Amino acid sequence: MRIILCGFGVVGQSLVKLFDSRSEDLYAKYGLKPRIVGVFDSKGSAVDQSGLDFNRLIYVKKKFGTVKKYADKKNTMSGIDMLKNIEADVLIETTASNYKDAEPGMTHITTAMKKGMHVISVNKGPLALAFPSLLELATYNQVMFKFSGTVGGGTPILDYAKNSLRGERITSFAGILNGTTNYILTNMGTGISYNDALKDAKDKGYVEADESLDLDGLDAAAKLVILANWVMGMKVTLPDINCTGIRKITSEDIKKASKNNSSIKLIASCNKDLIVGPKEVSNDDPLCVNGTLNAIAFTSEHSGTQTIIGKGAGGMETASSILRDLLDIRQEIARD
Ligand code: HSE
Repeated sequence: MRIILCGFGVVGQSLVKLFDSRSEDLYAKYGLKPRIVGVFDSKGSAVDQSGLDFNRLIYVKKKFGTVKKYADKKNTMSGIDMLKNIEADVLIETTASNYKDAEPGMTHITTAMKKGMHVISVNKGPLALAFPSLLELATYNQVMFKFSGTVGGGTPILDYAKNSLRGERITSFAGILNGTTNYILTNMGTGISYNDALKDAKDKGYVEADESLDLDGLDAAAKLVILANWVMGMKVTLPDINCTGIRKITSEDIKKASKNNSSIKLIASCNKDLIVGPKEVSNDDPLCVNGTLNAIAFTSEHSGTQTIIGKGAGGMETASSILRDLLDIRQEIARD
């Protein structure tokens, strides 16, 4: 399977390591032979139609901070040029989520789809701003569009709701979809101030480069948009979410909740409305997970409420979700 990998940060590098360590059993068990024919990062690119060497990609990135020096002749081909000029079967889009205009991920995805390539995105920006039209574009061009890693990282939240609960009618859901704010709120529960908890989360590398994405609820809202479209069949985008972050939560609020045997959590919910905001959750509720964990409770018409808990981020975890998507695509192609 020929792959163009857009973005080569923590997730992209984890994916290449995963391919490298699993290459034999991926082929033996699933007939999957991933061949990366092009990679680009913010400084340059590496291209080889016969397949780039996984170890060399990791080595060059570590040594020079870019894949540009993979070959003797520096390659400065942009992601768009690569997508237009290199033949590949799948685009894996891992550039940073941007909720203003979704670029450059949006152009990568639309260019690939128009060229007949299947797309796997862990970039939430394009889905948050244009989910309904991207799905239409994929259908129009008869390509598969997969995005398991956008919600819950390696925890298969979307797959659970869409496939394990097939035939059911999910009536509502509510979840903790942002690990960073959960970590901050959990630590505030132990008596630490908001500022100290934020600093600790930053020191541990949890907070996004643009902290507003976590603290103002945008990341959770983007995930809510994806869930609402994919699981509930709504046609919504980011402006449809009523979104409040955690900046105004004080130690007093946390103490007050604690007296009610509850904790304050940033909850993304879909009932009648789509809301992201801080909410008191009983400490006895399975949803009330701590640290960087994510959790989501789906309530359906006949099977009651089930809560899924797992890690919502991490390079290898997210890479494992990309692998799942790739295997689905491989299986679909084989079936055809
Ligand atoms: N900033 C996100 C979080 C990363 O804290 O959950 C995963 O999308």
